[in-house]
Amino acid sequence: MKDIYTLGIESSCDETSVAVVKNGREILSNVIDTQIPIHEKYGGVVPEIASRNHIEAISRVTKKALEEANISLEQIDAVTPTYGPGLVGALLVGLSYAKALSFAINKPLVGVNHIQGHIAANYITYKELEPPFLCMMMSGGNTQIIHVKDYTEFEVLGKTRDDAIGEAFDKVARVVGLGYPGGPKVDKLAKEGKPTIELPKTHFENMDFSFSGIKTAVINLHHKNPEINKADLCASFEKTITEILIENIKKAMKVTGMKTIALAGGVSANIFIRKAFLDLGQIQDDKEKQENQIQNDIKIYMPDLKLCTDNAGMIASAGYYNYMQGKRDALDLNAIPNLKL
Ligand code: KG4
Repeated sequence: MKDIYTLGIESSCDETSVAVVKNGREILSNVIDTQIPIHEKYGGVVPEIASRNHIEAISRVTKKALEEANISLEQIDAVTPTYGPGLVGALLVGLSYAKALSFAINKPLVGVNHIQGHIAANYITYKELEPPFLCMMMSGGNTQIIHVKDYTEFEVLGKTRDDAIGEAFDKVARVVGLGYPGGPKVDKLAKEGKPTIELPKTHFENMDFSFSGIKTAVINLHHKNPEINKADLCASFEKTITEILIENIKKAMKVTGMKTIALAGGVSANIFIRKAFLDLGQIQDDKEKQENQIQNDIKIYMPDLKLCTDNAGMIASAGYYNYMQGKRDALDLNAIPNLKL
């Protein structure tokens, strides 16, 4: 069979990234131009500044991605940009560029949902992984438990009713003075602390999440007692939030009977969360196994650390599966900031 090369373009937030992927699984290049140092001084991403920097970077990043992959534009089979969810101005830069490329080289334009891209990061890391499986999707804008029924078929089983998990990490980091982006900084500081502080958990009957309560509790604790040990606070926050994730993924396993779980999104780079999921795959306690109808054959997949956060490699992989499914988009494809799976 002929090899298929997809050109992924990602610009939904603060990373301008372009990648060439072969047959959906093999990264030939994955150039990531991050704007983190630019937004750091504002304590978060400033949408207008993000859009302007994407414009400045997109041609250069694309050229580099093609060079590193040692491939010409004519060899690309499909141009596969993220078209949502994300910041509308930022998305429009990558999408418009992709449309122009697709028109110029006369190759199909195949839009990709950013969340689908995060899931696909697992296909690059694990060549043997195939749907169906459960995905614990945790990023700066989304927190969802997804039943991945096929490469392009998804059912959302549970989602956050307020903040995304990454947002909660970022806000906690900002309040305790760690700066942006908060997740990796909380992760680092938590390693030096002990999870001794009791924090609230929100439970729902179904598999939904709520992180605003725990976030507010951390903020209030810190404001009322500025001398509080920040490392302990971060460790307690991380532990409590991880327990919530594990509770809900167990419910999802019970409901679906699925025993394969993949993590996705920026927060899946968190070391404590990764370890907790790995432990879930090795539950030894029979009582807990029975109660949760869990056997020891749970398989846990987690993307390489560099593929957890935004990158075009994962977008080109998801784009390949959309392309193979026959998805084609017209040049009037618009950016959809709140695009759902
Ligand atoms: O997936 P991502 O790069 O962007 C979105 O699609 O939203 O996720 C970014 C989020 C940020 O909130 C960042 O703080 C968080 O992922 N993050 C982490 C870690 N690394 C990145 N959160 C916790 N621990 C980490 N190690």
